[in-house]
Amino acid sequence: MQTNPVVEVKNLTKIFNSLKAVDNISFEMHPGEILGLLGPNGAGKTTTLQMLLALTIPTSGEIKIFGLDLEQNREKILHDVNFSSSYVAMPYSLTVMENLMVFARLYGVHNPQTRIAQLLNDFEAEDVKDKAVRSLSSGQITRVCLIKALLNDPKILFLDEPTASLDPDIADKTRRLLKKVKEEKGMSILYTSHNMREMEEMSDRIIFLDKGTIIAMGRPEEVQAHFKGESLEDVFLKIARRE
Ligand SMILES: Nc1ncnc2c1ncn2[C@@H]1O[C@H](COP(=O)(O)OP(=O)(O)OP(=O)(O)O)[C@@H](O)[C@H]1O
Ligand SMILES: [Mg+2]
Repeated sequence: MQTNPVVEVKNLTKIFNSLKAVDNISFEMHPGEILGLLGPNGAGKTTTLQMLLALTIPTSGEIKIFGLDLEQNREKILHDVNFSSSYVAMPYSLTVMENLMVFARLYGVHNPQTRIAQLLNDFEAEDVKDKAVRSLSSGQITRVCLIKALLNDPKILFLDEPTASLDPDIADKTRRLLKKVKEEKGMSILYTSHNMREMEEMSDRIIFLDKGTIIAMGRPEEVQAHFKGESLEDVFLKIARRE
């Protein structure tokens, strides 16, 4: 059965001054899909995510989420979407628990205490719940952001380098947890990472961005075969280092 895409991006472009950060990209994301966005520093990954979250206004192009135009249905769409990135601003003097309660109320979460307790347990973050956010390590903040991102049971999750500051043990657990949530709830996830093994392990499909344009899209092994690489890491290095 053909299902409608949850995200449809058509000819999306973002120009900062004269720089084309995102240059006419088009792609779709399907329900329950994990889509990995990869590419060199400055390729346009974060800018793309920011446009999908309606935090940055596109210069041109079209974004539909759940079949609706994002610009015209921002509030309705964002109710079922969540995100995590190192840019998430949290009131730093409040504790983790206070912060999560604020977000839970904003999202209208039922039984917020129970939901937060479950997620703190999933991310092994109970020990930081009474600490002020300003006193957390970067990996601890990342975990709190991921908890925040899952609070409202989103249908789509946008994650900008979700595992970048996590130690290998927690990063591995986070990947398993995201896969589990995806399987249980049919959530779609679009995430970025510079960890090519993670890309291979996590992604149903990947999108390779370079200088704002999509240079490859498909299952990780297809992209690897297309560029005749021994691994995705090998492909990345070939592309990043070519003249
Ligand atoms: N607010 C802004 N004003 C001007 N230029 C910007 C702005 N945001 C991003 N850029 C530029 O757009 C380009 C794409 O940046 P972006 O942050 O999307 O890259 P990225 O793929 O996420 O890179 P990284 O892997 O380093 O996170 C870069 O050249 C960056 O300098
Ligand atoms: Mg980025």
